[in-house]
Amino acid sequence: MTRIALTVNGTKVTREVTPRTNLADFLREELLLTGTHIGCEHGICGACTVVVDGEIARSCITYAVTCDGAEVRTIENFDEDTLMAKLRQAFSEEHALQCGYCTPGMLVAARDLIRRGEARDEESIRIGMSGNLCRCTGYMGIVSAVAKVAGAYSEKAEPNAATRTLGPAPGPDAPDGFATEKPASARPAKAVKAEAAAPVLSSQRSANVQTGEVTQEGKFTKLTQTITVNHPREDVWRYMADIEKVATCMPGVALDGPPQEGHVDGRMLVKLGPISADLAGEADVTRIENEWRGIIEGKGRDARSASLASGRVEYQLAEAEGGAATQMSVSMAYSLAGPLAQFSRGAIVRDLVSRLAGAFAQNLETRLSGRESDTAPAALDAGSLVFSVLWDHIKGFISKLLGRGSD
Ligand code: FES
Ligand code: FES
Repeated sequence: MTRIALTVNGTKVTREVTPRTNLADFLREELLLTGTHIGCEHGICGACTVVVDGEIARSCITYAVTCDGAEVRTIENFDEDTLMAKLRQAFSEEHALQCGYCTPGMLVAARDLIRRGEARDEESIRIGMSGNLCRCTGYMGIVSAVAKVAGAYSEKAEPNAATRTLGPAPGPDAPDGFATEKPASARPAKAVKAEAAAPVLSSQRSANVQTGEVTQEGKFTKLTQTITVNHPREDVWRYMADIEKVATCMPGVALDGPPQEGHVDGRMLVKLGPISADLAGEADVTRIENEWRGIIEGKGRDARSASLASGRVEYQLAEAEGGAATQMSVSMAYSLAGPLAQFSRGAIVRDLVSRLAGAFAQNLETRLSGRESDTAPAALDAGSLVFSVLWDHIKGFISKLLGRGSD
């Protein structure tokens, strides 16, 4: 059991919870706040939507231990909220509910959408609310109710809220203008800024990443990747020898100090929406010069959430495009335990790791081109990454339901 202290609906709460307790169960069973509903229990339907530290979040896939120190608001805490009162009234007038099971999540999501100033018209409301499913009443009444309130509220949209990327919507493929800042495709904020400030020349090409299938062997998740960077193998091999430089290409990784005979201590900071982990760990790096091959074995632990990670990454470099480019074949095997273990599921892991590798490859490409300092810190807020991953899965799921291929 882990002791957590958080603020729920303005009241400080301290409880002992198991590492597996999700926030929805914690709210409903420990605090008897049953206005938060549970539908799918895997982050698709939005019935369990609550507000965590000002951002909407799905409480069924948020572990309670990761909310230690957070401020949580549930539907019960909006009685005095003027905007929520207008939404409740509009939902009633527009027949936006039937059984009402989805309604708490709908209301919390709609309020967030309107506050962000993103409920501009029917299309933007339908896209913005597409992370919340209703099984019985249909969506016309819901859209009408949100539009009715949004029209009256548009003057008061929060000035900075539109740039947020957390929450079930808008996702990475929202129409232009829906979000003023698109999700950063897992690239470190620093790298994104650098590219924006210095336009990429046509001769500067992007790295390419191909990801194979994910398999499970015992407790280990395994997958392979092929990364192609547009630089000769000797240059890439030389760069990969410098562990401190390579670490700056990895989103969220920081070393505690210089490597000692191939051994490094460091941390990996990951923020996955409301789940955050600060993995403190160590790794051993081996290079086999005559085979252009390297092996990295490491393990880490997040003391707060008790997440454990261990793994092994092996890479080998081969010449490509007549020596002008390098193909890096990567195979990795890792195991996760604790709250991060939910990211061991095949399709999500594949997308997540692809995007992380994409960030690494692009950083490597950028550094080898001399377009950015080697010392630039790489920070990862994967909130947008995770939701873009989930959004892709939701789109695929809906397309399948409608009998169409995913676009
Ligand atoms: S119950 Fe949480 S998203 Fe469906
Ligand atoms: S009103 Fe019944 S699920 Fe939405």
